[in-house]
Amino acid sequence: MRLSVVGCGYLGAVHAAAMASIGHEVVGIDVDAVKVAALAEGRAPFFEPGLGEILSEGIASGRLSFTTDMAAAKGAAVHFVGVGTPQQKDGYAADLTYVHAAVDALVPFLSPGDVVAGKSTVPVGTAADLTPRVAATGATLVWNPEFLREGWAVQDTIDPDRLVVGVPAGDEGARAADILRDVYHPAVGKGTPFLVTDLATAELVKVAANAFLATKISFINAMAEIAEVTGADVTQLADAIGHDARIGRRFLGAGIGFGGGCLPKDIRAFSARAEELGRGESVAFLREIDAINMRRRDRAVDLVVQSLGGTVYGKRVAVLGAAFKPHSDDIRDSPALDVAVRLKGLGADVIVTDPEAIDNSRRIHPQLDYTPHRDDAIADAEAVVVVTEWDEYRKDLTPQHASTLTTGRIIIDGRNCLDATAWRTAGWTYHGMGRP
Ligand code: UDX
Repeated sequence: MRLSVVGCGYLGAVHAAAMASIGHEVVGIDVDAVKVAALAEGRAPFFEPGLGEILSEGIASGRLSFTTDMAAAKGAAVHFVGVGTPQQKDGYAADLTYVHAAVDALVPFLSPGDVVAGKSTVPVGTAADLTPRVAATGATLVWNPEFLREGWAVQDTIDPDRLVVGVPAGDEGARAADILRDVYHPAVGKGTPFLVTDLATAELVKVAANAFLATKISFINAMAEIAEVTGADVTQLADAIGHDARIGRRFLGAGIGFGGGCLPKDIRAFSARAEELGRGESVAFLREIDAINMRRRDRAVDLVVQSLGGTVYGKRVAVLGAAFKPHSDDIRDSPALDVAVRLKGLGADVIVTDPEAIDNSRRIHPQLDYTPHRDDAIADAEAVVVVTEWDEYRKDLTPQHASTLTTGRIIIDGRNCLDATAWRTAGWTYHGMGRP
């Protein structure tokens, strides 16, 4: 099938390459000529495992191309729209400028019978707002939210847990749903749940899923706060409640909390939209989820300050991690970098290391010092802070090895990813999050 993908950021670039890898003929369109040039050469403009391979394969096969020219969308049966919906500069609501601009630019190239499939995460009601403009061309607007996780984006796109398509009522919607079923034929063929809903439900599914995940993380972080004043261990608590299948252990990792380009902004935009709809109280708890999340960053900084005798001023602190999570070079709203910046603000001599995210970090926070080498960061540090649970720090770094690099012997485990006993036995002072 011929497909266009409008917006080649994180979501769109992966979607375009993944759709080509399952046999479709795909053109990716973006206004950013630099990004388009990189993608057209098969180079991923960001770190995402497996993306480089499927980009190169797609381009070599002749089925995948990238351009800045929207006219290239003409003739495609389905047009995916995957542009960004960032948080507004002066508030919590989502900025829909790019979504509206993309649809307006696409409209002149639509033909009757085409399907426009919105993938961006949007406030509920956006699809209804856009529908008249698309419908005027004889095309059908549907909403097909994307649930991919960074670091697993290729796998999540090709083999998702579920597919959700919101469609308009009647035959037009049923036909559009059938077309989307064909697009995703390999996943549908192997029994992946394919849920057809109305437009508003599809928009809400995405924000509800992210709100639930954020709630799960802040719930366990709230338990960490209680554990901290009672001597309990939140990781044992998470294991114990996680055995209840109704609760489940995943996303019960207490630590410095969630960040990234989705969860923080999506729960804020959801609150803002609920308030516009007169239902602010229904999701008022999301403000608390956000507040708990931000407090964990304070806690990590406090632990460093306390363990260094009440001040970090002039003291060398190694910060292991900058990305908002492992397997990503994304530093958007990264709790790891926030901790580093706060320590620097308190006068610490901070040195940050990360396997993938240093270039991005340096651009945004040039005031911090960086090294690509973990051991150089640890060398002579008075305290070591693990803030992103890369294998390089979680598995490969032993207390014996770290002891050869510094006499500091203080480690703060912001992700509860280290073996506390092993570090203590080796003579280190270990502090976890919500652990005695
Ligand atoms: C998230 C959703 O998982 C995905 O479905 C959606 O499409 C986009 O938003 P992503 O932002 O890639 O994906 O990251 P995710 O793996 O969900 O992690 C989000 C943040 O939560 C990270 O900062 C991570 O470190 C943190 N986290 C995750 C925890 O603090 N504890 C956990 O137990 C799990």
